[in-house]
Amino acid sequence: MKVLLATQKPFSAAAVAGIEDILTKAGHSLVKLEKYADQSELVAAVADVQALIIRSDKVTAEVLDAAPEMKIVVRAGAGFDNVDLEAATAHGVVVMNTPGQNSNAVAELAIAMMIFMSRGQFTPATGSEIMGKTLGVQAYGNVGRLVGRKAEALGLKIMAIDPFIPADKIRELGAEPAENLEHMYASSDFVSIHIPATPQTVRSIGYDLITRMPKGACLVNTARKEVIDEEGLMRALEDRPDLKYVADVAPDNYEALREKFGVRVFATPKKMGAQTAEANMNAGLAAASQIVDYFETGNTRFQVNR
Ligand code: 3PG
Repeated sequence: MKVLLATQKPFSAAAVAGIEDILTKAGHSLVKLEKYADQSELVAAVADVQALIIRSDKVTAEVLDAAPEMKIVVRAGAGFDNVDLEAATAHGVVVMNTPGQNSNAVAELAIAMMIFMSRGQFTPATGSEIMGKTLGVQAYGNVGRLVGRKAEALGLKIMAIDPFIPADKIRELGAEPAENLEHMYASSDFVSIHIPATPQTVRSIGYDLITRMPKGACLVNTARKEVIDEEGLMRALEDRPDLKYVADVAPDNYEALREKFGVRVFATPKKMGAQTAEANMNAGLAAASQIVDYFETGNTRFQVNR
C-alpha cells in the first residue's frame, strides 16, 4: 500500500525514519508531504494513496472526495477534531488516533506553563510558588492524569472532574472529585483544561466559570483554543485584574489580550504541546504500526468513527 505522511508541522527526522522503516518492512511505501503551505497540496497528494498519517492537518470532505483509494487515516496524536468523521464514514474510511502517545509531552508543558505564569513569565517581579496551591484538572484522561500526578509531586492538591469517570474512580486515581465544574473552578488556583473540542465543549469555558476562580488564579489551556469563549475570557480578565490565562495555542483575540493584559496572558505561536522528540517518535511509530496491523489483521482497536 502507498501511505502518505502529511504533516504541516513535521515530525523529527528520526521519527519519520522510524515510520518509514515500519512501513517498508511490512511491504508498504511512504510518501511525504511536509510543511505544505496550502490545503490544495494535501488534496492533490491523496489522489493515489491508500493510507494517511496526519497530525493537526485538516482531513475535510474535500480531501476524502479526492482520495478514492483511501482505506485508513491515522491521526498521530489524541484530538481528532481536525478530521471530518462523518465524511470519512461515508467514504468507508477508518479513522484512528494514537491515544496516550504524546500525553507526557503535553502534561509537561502544562506544568511548565503553571510555573512560567506564577513567575510573571520569568520577569524579575515577585512571583509565587505553586507548592501548596490547588490544581483543578478538567477531564481526567491520559493527559489530565499525568498532569495531576506531576503536580501532586510538586506539592499541589489535585481536584478533578470528568463526565466519563465516576467520582470514586477519580478518588482512586488520587484526586479529589469536584462536585461540578463550578465547584472546581471556584476551588482551584490553577485549572488545567484537557477536554476535546466537540460541539458540546466549544466555547464552553467563559466568563461565568473563569470569574469563579479564586484570587490570583491561572487558567491553563493545552487542549484546544476553541473550547474557550474568547469574548468571555476578555471580559473576565478585564473585571478581575488578578486572573491569568496561558494557552497552547493562541486565541484569535491574542493580540488584543496581550496589549490589554501584558504578562497576565501568554500563548504559544504554534501548538507545541506534543512537539518533543519523544512524542514525535511515540505517536509517529504508533500510527505506522496501527496501519500495518490494520492491513494485516483488520485490527480497529483505536478506530474513532464507529
Ligand atoms: C493532540 O491532539 O494529540 C495534540 O494536540 C497534538 O497535536 P499536534 O500533533 O498537531 O502537535
